[in-house]
Amino acid sequence: MTQTIGVVTGGGDCPGLNAVIRAVAKSAIRRGWKAVGIQGGYEGLLAPQRTIPLEGDLLAGLLVRGGTILGTANQGLFSAKVGHGESRRLPVELLDRTKRGCEQLGLAGLVSIGGDGSLSIAQQLHEHGIPIVGVPKTIDNDLAATLMTFGFDSAVACATDAVDRLHSTAESHQRVMVLEVMGRYAGWIAIYSGLAGGADVILIPEVPFRYESICAKLHERRQAGKLFSIVVVAEGAREAGADFVTSTHQPQNREARLGGIGAQVAEQIQERTGQETRVVVLGHLQRGGGPTNMDRALCTIFGTKAVELIAQQRFGEMVAFTGSQVASVPILDAVGRLRTVPLDGGFVMSARSLGICLGD
Ligand code: F6P
Repeated sequence: MTQTIGVVTGGGDCPGLNAVIRAVAKSAIRRGWKAVGIQGGYEGLLAPQRTIPLEGDLLAGLLVRGGTILGTANQGLFSAKVGHGESRRLPVELLDRTKRGCEQLGLAGLVSIGGDGSLSIAQQLHEHGIPIVGVPKTIDNDLAATLMTFGFDSAVACATDAVDRLHSTAESHQRVMVLEVMGRYAGWIAIYSGLAGGADVILIPEVPFRYESICAKLHERRQAGKLFSIVVVAEGAREAGADFVTSTHQPQNREARLGGIGAQVAEQIQERTGQETRVVVLGHLQRGGGPTNMDRALCTIFGTKAVELIAQQRFGEMVAFTGSQVASVPILDAVGRLRTVPLDGGFVMSARSLGICLGD
């Protein structure tokens, strides 16, 4: 029987969104279904709905294209997070309007591609009777119940490239180069790119740091004749006993914007060691551009699996990567519980074995 399914992208964008949209649409079409894209995030479901048929030429070239052809939103009526990640419940009236919107579109299922915020909205829509499944997206890789979110590998590739580039200029000028990367309250991007790029110091939110420890490492390197150093700092890293560093312009009714710790770390290093130090904030470059090969494959498997979940009417579930296969878990298991870098896990242990300073 022909049925129509919808796809919606929510929260911050990241490489691979279009690859998932393509996989969902193509596998739906092969089943004899129709797929429509909801434009501008969940708000596109509200009457007058904003949708676009996902078919024909529109699907060409999507596998490698950055951003999202549907647009997305991490503010507005459906913003789910405030402060330092506290979840917000949607008003019943808005849930009713969304459900009516889905019914008017005749959606037999809706694929929500999102991170913690958008998927916690998906869970509320599911509880309100909307037939929804989730696909885990975020460069931060901080969603529980999946070993990897798509977008993360691409962000790590970007951050690692930056570390590599900073290495040569740091060496030429005998400087300390500090690189601030994204990741919110999890240090995944920092620890992966720091290890992949051979950083000397990696500061992550999971390990509150002390400047004495960082400076001791830099001193040790100088004593050994290594006159430059690379420091990777996650935006959510903080000095022991201090607060998260947030941007000066904090949005109202939105999640706090982290940022600025890199500059503080650079300033302190220069002041305390006398070594010339520079800072680079990588920012949204980590979210831009097309997906890596790994992400293209992951997105494709995630998208086809999401369509399978709809076919099996397994609403309220999210596709998840287990390391050996793509399975599914209740959306509820994935949201509201941050997956951080384990202190006794392989990444932290490996960093310590190499003598990389984690700031503690
Ligand atoms: O969650 C993805 C992310 O890029 C975080 O790493 C970062 O803190 C935040 O979004 C930035 O959000 P915005 O695009 O609103 O500046």
